[in-house]
Amino acid sequence: MNVYDSARMADVLRPLGYGPVERPEDADMIILNTCHIRERAAEKVFSELGRLRKIREAREIDGRSTIIAVAGCVAQAEGEVILARAPYVDLVLGPQTYHRLPEMVARAARAGGAVIDTDFPVEQKFDFLPEAAAPQTAGNLTAFLTIQEGCDKFCSFCVVPYTRGAETSRPVASVLAEARRMVASGVREITLLGQNVNAYHGDDGNGGSATLAGLAADLAAIPGLDRIRYMTSHPRDVDQSLIDAHQDNAALMPFLHLPVQSGSDKILKAMNRGHTSDEYRETVRRLREVRPDLALSSDFIVGHPGESEEDFEATMQLIRDIGFAMAYSFKYSPRPGTPAAGQPLQVAEDIKDRRLAEMQALLREQQDAFNADMVGTTQDILITGKGRKPGQLSGRSPYLQPVHFEGPETLIGSIVKVAITERLTNSLGGTLIRETAPAC
Ligand code: 5AD
Ligand code: SF4
Repeated sequence: MNVYDSARMADVLRPLGYGPVERPEDADMIILNTCHIRERAAEKVFSELGRLRKIREAREIDGRSTIIAVAGCVAQAEGEVILARAPYVDLVLGPQTYHRLPEMVARAARAGGAVIDTDFPVEQKFDFLPEAAAPQTAGNLTAFLTIQEGCDKFCSFCVVPYTRGAETSRPVASVLAEARRMVASGVREITLLGQNVNAYHGDDGNGGSATLAGLAADLAAIPGLDRIRYMTSHPRDVDQSLIDAHQDNAALMPFLHLPVQSGSDKILKAMNRGHTSDEYRETVRRLREVRPDLALSSDFIVGHPGESEEDFEATMQLIRDIGFAMAYSFKYSPRPGTPAAGQPLQVAEDIKDRRLAEMQALLREQQDAFNADMVGTTQDILITGKGRKPGQLSGRSPYLQPVHFEGPETLIGSIVKVAITERLTNSLGGTLIRETAPAC
């Protein structure tokens, strides 16, 4: 979501004459868009700020000024701390106020001091953002689109409900308008974003609220939009309509990020996740029943307070039972202000290290097996650009795997059938077997 937010910040600043530069040394304004989810991410902000200060000093010698801004969730949670530790920062803004950036820049210029804006304003920033000039990724063929923000789930370990605020959904009409603009500029694959994306309940324009499944159906009807993804989902919000959508909506990709965090019922309860490990297994079973080629990814935390060896083993068992195509795994990181941070029975760092290594070895094995199983299959590949070698094309599979194969550049932007012939270190190799009409 920070990628999406950064692009929107560029949009609001464009009318003021700002545009992208290659190196921070050439920038009149530098915005650090930050993440507060784990301690290491938050600490990185301060080392990065030290580096930016040097750049600013060097530019000053040449008579050039530089605005330094800190945006995102670290700004939201630690705005005052940032100004105390790094008094040279000019602007501090949270994730819900970046539509006010132009006004903040003007205020900083007038007042000459730091400007801080970490409100949770009643107005929705989406109503104030200009139409995106261009979507953000892979040659404009794929794009992110935020449809929902914030979270009311209050998992014991998580800062999101405090930094991103309460759960809100964008109206259907606003999402569809943004999606149409993206498709008109060449996008063929959209990833719908939200901290709790399947809790989506945007205004449907008829006095009711839409579901994610309903929104995905409306999006699939946009000519030229071939692929839809969504992340991140909560297992509790996978309802029947979403399961049905995976059967009925051909544009929905069969690859689902569905974080479970732990496989121990005791820890799931301590985490306030609101479901058991068997309920997760059952949700996955129902999804795979309607969509047998569905692959899953997940997030895991090792070493949540109170996690015993037995709890950890229950998580390993869940991983073996489900089989993940890929996954992110983290050591529990106590976050200030969250309930888990104050709990007794914190797990020692060396135990977390060992559990994480064991878990990652198993997850790596599963990921390798998943990729190896692709060899001998035929996959629909969205061609996103040229490959590294001459004559080669590069694209992504329904499972987000990079795929390389020989073919003419005229095919860039289309979806083609590719026979997967080999597994490379971080990608797949294949042979083009059938061309479809290229996108115009
Ligand atoms: N410590 C470790 N990992 C965390 N996550 C969220 N909060 C923490 C924390 N305090 C992980 C969860 C979540 C992902 C985005 O980050 O696994 O799904
Ligand atoms: Fe954080 Fe996700 Fe839990 Fe919300 S559902 S509190 S974003 S981990």
